[in-house]
Amino acid sequence: MTAEAASPGRGHPGLFVTLEGGDGVGKTTQAALLDEWLTSLGRTVVRTREPGGTEVGVLVRDIVLHHRGDIAPRAEALLYAADRAHHIETVVRPALERGDVVIQDRYFDSSVAYQGDGRQLEPGEIRDLSMWAARGLVPDLTILLDLDPATARGRLDADDKPFDRLESEREDFHARVRDRFLAIAADEPGRFLVLDAARPADDLAGDVRARVESVLAGDSRGGVGAPG
Ligand code: TYD
Repeated sequence: MTAEAASPGRGHPGLFVTLEGGDGVGKTTQAALLDEWLTSLGRTVVRTREPGGTEVGVLVRDIVLHHRGDIAPRAEALLYAADRAHHIETVVRPALERGDVVIQDRYFDSSVAYQGDGRQLEPGEIRDLSMWAARGLVPDLTILLDLDPATARGRLDADDKPFDRLESEREDFHARVRDRFLAIAADEPGRFLVLDAARPADDLAGDVRARVESVLAGDSRGGVGAPG
């Protein structure tokens, strides 16, 4: 069975959009621009992220990103999955059931890429773990911002913020993460929009809007401006 066939489709009246990619690719900027546009069209937007989209998640985020000692790779995978389980159950599903648009910075594709390939656990098992945690919720659209890790690292350096546990990983780790993201997107072309994150942010935002419009146009509940 392909991953595409595994998608349950829309079991809710909302729209679930996730942004994925390596560190420093500009996901937050694109999430903000998409939020602004959809809000101006009258949609109710919930912007959220993993890890850290809930109060419990903020605690988990602090452990996975800032704990100073080692964390065993399987424990790290379970921490991300725990954050996900609570976040999807308490924030994302309720929003989708209300008919809102959820714009989420990172979701299970990040676990598959970072824990599956970065930490060299088994990507299929990591996906299964997330599917269990999230009770099978698959995004309606995933935007992958693709950038070569050296360029992304240059952007992070320019930011002048201290690197977190994942950002501090070596270049080969980030190269494996990037390759896995591209492989997942190639397996599920219907779910993904892959963009070259080296392009100007406004151009990227235009492509994102066009794709969201087409997803919503295929929606029996009407166009982009349909009430949430
Ligand atoms: P992010 O919030 O994008 O970092 P920042 O706010 O610093 O831009 O993501 C935090 C880190 O967590 C990022 O390096 C990717 C990593 N991550 C995983 O390793 N697995 C996961 O399942 C998720 C959601 C994130």
